[in-house]
Amino acid sequence: MDAVTTRTEADPAFRDDVLAGLAAPIRAIPSRWFYDRRGSELFEAITRLPEYYPTRVDTMLLERHCPEVADIAGRGDAVVEFGSGSSAKTPILLRAVGPSSYVPIDISGEFLRDSAAALQAEFPDLPILPVEADFMRPLELPAEVSATDKLGFFPGSTIGNMVPRTAVDLLRAMKETLGCGAHLLIGIDRVKDPEVLIRAYDDAAGVTAEFNLNLLHRINAELDGDIAVDDFRHVARWNEERSRVEMHLEAKADLAFTVSGTRFEMRAGDTIHTENSHKYGERDARLLMLASGWKVVRQWTDEEDMFALLLAEAEAPRFAP
Ligand code: AVJ
Repeated sequence: MDAVTTRTEADPAFRDDVLAGLAAPIRAIPSRWFYDRRGSELFEAITRLPEYYPTRVDTMLLERHCPEVADIAGRGDAVVEFGSGSSAKTPILLRAVGPSSYVPIDISGEFLRDSAAALQAEFPDLPILPVEADFMRPLELPAEVSATDKLGFFPGSTIGNMVPRTAVDLLRAMKETLGCGAHLLIGIDRVKDPEVLIRAYDDAAGVTAEFNLNLLHRINAELDGDIAVDDFRHVARWNEERSRVEMHLEAKADLAFTVSGTRFEMRAGDTIHTENSHKYGERDARLLMLASGWKVVRQWTDEEDMFALLLAEAEAPRFAP
């Protein structure tokens, strides 16, 4: 080991996204950059907040309905998880389905190996076949599962981070990856009272604010920035027209800063848009899936219709209406 302190090399894709996003007429940085180590810890803390219902309701729905998922999709399928879980959710599905193998897909190899090792301890006899890849594009699954029916798994309403056009691209890529005869189990957050939605993204303890502001700390640390983080405030807004909660970082005063040698200016009230979280009604969710080649066979929801769990099957190609 080197005795000198080594600075972690900044991810060039992070630098490109931040520099382009801050220079754009509507300032925006993709939400995937929230998840450095600190950001991932803060997200874990968010999932335990009283106001943040999605994780709790999603987990409860999985506990309730995974046996039925297994009845419909078929026991012994290969379970393919997109953006593989460090979460407590995967074992619930695996226990119910009794899969012939588990294929976690993630872009971060390190994360992938850690969560695969943890799951292997819990399921010693289950073949785990991790794939390090970007699942936004169709990809080749391991040869071991080529003859097995697939059950895709995409919990947590991660799909909500994407604008509908991108969500459709992703769902179509998933269909191509999983092949014909596949099923997909997906969690999607519901449209509801905007006040309840805003509280879920602007909690009383300020954890979500810290999660959002951490992006600025990350820029300072990794991209040689000098942003005065205290000069920004966390804002969560409901965009009715686009049916989504938006998170922004709003400048409290006129300010200027430098990132990777480039200077940026903002006026008081200007924002950097950092996240979208789209919400779908029952029909919206069904249509989103249909537009992507998936027919919804079941939609389960909680008593208050807070969150939905959908089981869909890949539609076969057809020639006529
Ligand atoms: C991980 C995308 C499902 O949008 O609800 C939570 C991320 N952002 N609080 C969501 C998030 C702020 C979360 N997802």
